[in-house]
Amino acid sequence: PKDRPEDESERGLRVFDRGFLNTAVIQSSITYIDGDNGILRYRGYPIEQLASESSFLECAYLLIYGSLPTQAQLSLFDREVLLHGLMHADATGFFRSFRYDAHPMAILTSAFAYLGSYYGEANPSLQGQDLYTKCAKGDPVALQNMDRQIFRLIGKATTLAAMAYRVRQGREFVVPPTGMSYTESFLYQLDHLSPTDAFSTSSSSSATPYKPHPILARALDILFILHADHELNASSTTVLQAGSSLPDPYSVVAAGCASLYGPLHGGANEAVIRMLVSIGSPENVPAFLAAVKRREKVLSGFGHRVYKTSDPRSFIIRKVADEVFTVTGPDPLLATAMALHDEALKDDYFVSRKLAPNVDFWSGLIYRAMGFPMDFFPVLFVVPRVVGWLAHWRQMMLSPDGVKIWRPRQIYVGPPERPFVLLNERE
Ligand code: ACO
Repeated sequence: PKDRPEDESERGLRVFDRGFLNTAVIQSSITYIDGDNGILRYRGYPIEQLASESSFLECAYLLIYGSLPTQAQLSLFDREVLLHGLMHADATGFFRSFRYDAHPMAILTSAFAYLGSYYGEANPSLQGQDLYTKCAKGDPVALQNMDRQIFRLIGKATTLAAMAYRVRQGREFVVPPTGMSYTESFLYQLDHLSPTDAFSTSSSSSATPYKPHPILARALDILFILHADHELNASSTTVLQAGSSLPDPYSVVAAGCASLYGPLHGGANEAVIRMLVSIGSPENVPAFLAAVKRREKVLSGFGHRVYKTSDPRSFIIRKVADEVFTVTGPDPLLATAMALHDEALKDDYFVSRKLAPNVDFWSGLIYRAMGFPMDFFPVLFVVPRVVGWLAHWRQMMLSPDGVKIWRPRQIYVGPPERPFVLLNERE
């Protein structure tokens, strides 16, 4: 039949699109971005409303299942996710095997793949390659199994991230608490500042365990909402690429994690802080921008493949930063950041290239003010983005057309056929 072309030339035009500038590879109903007008919506809901009215786990439910949960659905989802935060005690050995100065993203990426080794029930290589594709046909057992992996991955993301954090400090691991929200539980497990610190609501003399400051916990919750998904960014594309060959979802999330690690993606907030430290003070901003224009430096936290105006998340984050500074005091780099921001937005070089602040421009300042070390910033991006990755993975697995392995083509520019030369005959 003619719908199955026999020969390559019948498959139509092959497009050479370096960096996928203009290639759509999926149809999706998860996240909408209008890059020219600075609009971002999850499942149709404006990001501004979600950030002010919703919680991270409510948004997670929305992104994954497609609609806002009822109270009963949300309570069940919260309970399942938080219950799955517990990690088997023998994982301690895995975390302790890393060097004291290992980058937390190296630990976390490995930890997600390691986690998969616990759950043979999630592995299509062991259970049959239709393990998840059966979900598309509405098989209730397969769907329940898929949900369990989703709860587990979201629940354990904070636990693994906290373990990656504490192992480097040579500290004992903290069992996830009960009765706290997702972000409170994360801060509790990190316990990154001593209970005597002003950032905790318990006092030095009291025996009360560490209780995260409500303003900081809410700030982190909003940051998690803003980072939960962003359409087909590099790491979500990696997740779909990896997922298309049907490995278990733990390996898929590990692949996403590896992609997010790079300085052009999840490493950008760390790069912003390093840049601000290197600039030093507002007086040095013009010289720095001149170096950017000579292409000797990059203005980290500016520019985006899709937004050709300010990233709508950057306005929300700017307000969150002010809230956080009421608790932590302002970050000393804030004045430099503001000068850089204002100067760049007036400069023709950046205006003509439509370069505006992205989500990472301010987020690093918040994390720094909250006391997180710089190399932990990408981890604070991964934890919420696990939700977006799972939403994309689930959407692909539930596709009524089945899963198609992602196998792009290339333009071959190497040598034509040539005869093999024996080793002793080569010059
Ligand atoms: N600083 C200086 N110039 C820049 C920047 C920047 N941050 N970003 C883009 N440009 C320039 C490019 O040099 C290019 O100029 P030219 O046309 O004269 O050659 C022009 O703007 C277009 O940029 P591209 O590189 O084509 O944009 P692309 O879509 O490929 O890259 C990216 C987008 C990677 C985000 C880029 O803007 C960048 O490197 N930004 C800094 C890193 C960053 O903040 N990343 C976070 C992204 S958001 C996220 O992952 C959450």
